[in-house]
Amino acid sequence: MELSKGTIVISGGKPLYGEISVSGMKNAAVAIVLSTILTEDKCVIENLPDISDVNVSLEILRSIGVKVRRLDKNTVEIDSSVAAPCVAPFELVNKMRASYYLIGAELGRFGRAFVGLPGGCDFGVRPIDQHIKGFEALGAEVKVDGGYIEATCADGTLYGNSVYMDVVTVGGTINVMLAAVKAEGITVIENAAHEPHIVDTANFLNACGAEISGAGTDVIKIRGVKKLHGVTYTIIPDMIEAGTFMILGAATGGSIRVKNLIPKHMDSLTAKLSEMGVGVEEEGDAITITRKNEELQHVNVKTQPYPGFPTDLHPQMGVLLSLAKGTSHLTENIWESRFRYVEELKRMGAQISVTGRTAEFTGVPSLHAASVRAVDLRAGSAMVIAALATPGVTEIEEIHHIFRGYEDLIEKLTAVGADIKVVYPETKYNVF
Ligand code: EPZ
Repeated sequence: MELSKGTIVISGGKPLYGEISVSGMKNAAVAIVLSTILTEDKCVIENLPDISDVNVSLEILRSIGVKVRRLDKNTVEIDSSVAAPCVAPFELVNKMRASYYLIGAELGRFGRAFVGLPGGCDFGVRPIDQHIKGFEALGAEVKVDGGYIEATCADGTLYGNSVYMDVVTVGGTINVMLAAVKAEGITVIENAAHEPHIVDTANFLNACGAEISGAGTDVIKIRGVKKLHGVTYTIIPDMIEAGTFMILGAATGGSIRVKNLIPKHMDSLTAKLSEMGVGVEEEGDAITITRKNEELQHVNVKTQPYPGFPTDLHPQMGVLLSLAKGTSHLTENIWESRFRYVEELKRMGAQISVTGRTAEFTGVPSLHAASVRAVDLRAGSAMVIAALATPGVTEIEEIHHIFRGYEDLIEKLTAVGADIKVVYPETKYNVF
C-alpha cells in the first residue's frame, strides 16, 4: 500500500516503557551510498536504514548503471565498475536534498557531472553556492541552468586547492571532500562542518584508500589518490533518530531505553533534558530516559552546528517546550524558516508565538487530540511525539515525509506500548 495515501492514527496520553534500538544514520547513509561511485570495486554497506531516502539513493545509483544487490534488509552490495556519466532521472533526484552528493561523486569519478537540482524538506531557501565554490576551486566549471547543475573540468582532472567555506555547511563539506579525494594534489577545507556523518563519510572513504585527515574539526585535509578500492563498511547509529526517541520518552513519561547509539553525539540534548528535570542515564551504547510525574521545567534552546543543539531535533523539542511549565524560547540559527510545525502543534492547543528566528512557548498541562499534518520529515516525527503524549485519538496526514527518515517506526513504537497504526482511505472510513 502506498504510504503517501496513509494516515497515522495514534491513541495517546499514556506513559511508554521499554527499549528502542536505533538504526543506521540516514544522513551518513545517503552520503556514503552515493560516494561508492568513486571506486570501481564492489562495496558492501552494512547497518543501512531501510528508509525511502536511502532507497532513492540506491535507485539513483541504478539509474546510472551501478549494480545494487540487497543482501538483507540492512545490507547492500554496490558495484560501480560499469557506472557511466549519464543523467539520473529528475523525478528521483528531486525527491531529496542529498542527491546533490551525486555532483561531487561524479566529478571525483568521471571529471564531470550533470545532475538535477535537489529536492528535500522546505525550510525556505536552501542554496548550494558553497558546494559550487568548492568545485570551482578544484578547477571545475559549474553551470546552473534549467533546473540542472553541470560541472565539467578540462582533461577530466581536478586539482587540489584551499577552500574556505563562508558558511558552515554539512552538505558542502561532504561534497567538496567527494570531489577532492581523487584530485591531483592536496585540498584543504577550512571552516568545515563537524557533524558525525561527515566523519563517517571520511572514514568510509579512508577505508577505501583515500587520505583524509581532520574530519570532525574545522580543517579537513585531503591528499588526492589515484584509485579507491572496495570495502565493507558499517554505518554509524542515527543520532537524530536517537534524539527523537529520547524526547519521546520525556514527553510521554514512563521509561524508554534508547540503545545502539553513541552517547557523545547526544550531549547537547542530554544536557537540555537534564535541565528540564528529565532523568537521563547513560550506560555503554544506551541512554535511558525516565520521567515520573514531575513537571518539565522550561528552558531556552538555540540550534547550532555540531556539537551544538541539532536543528534536526528542533520540531521534536518544540513539543517538549509546549508541555514545560513556564515560558521557553527556541531559536533556529541554521535554517531560514523551520517553524512550519508550529501551526500543526497549535491545532493541538500549544501556545507558541514566532518572532523572526525565535519561537516562544507558554507551557500547557496537556495538548488535545486533533487532525494534523506532517509538513516535513522532522516536523512529522514531532507530531508523532505530540500525539503519543496527548490523551485521545490524533490523526497525522502526509506521513510519507516521516518514513523518509525513520525505519520501522510503527513497530519500534508499538514495542514500547504505543497505540499507533497506519490506516488507508478505503479502510479509514469503513466503519461498518
Ligand atoms: C544537512 O543538510 C542535513 N541533510 C539536514 O538534515 C540538516 O538539517 C542540515 O545538514 C544541518 O545540520 C542531510 O545531511 C541530507 P547545510 P544540508 O548545508 O547539508 C546554508 C534532516 O532532517 N548553506 O549544513 O543541506 C543553508 O542555507 C535534514 O535529516 C548555504 O548558505 O545543510 C543553511 O542555512 C533536514 N550555502 C546552512 O548553510 C550552501 O552552499 C546549513 O546548511 C550550503 C548551505
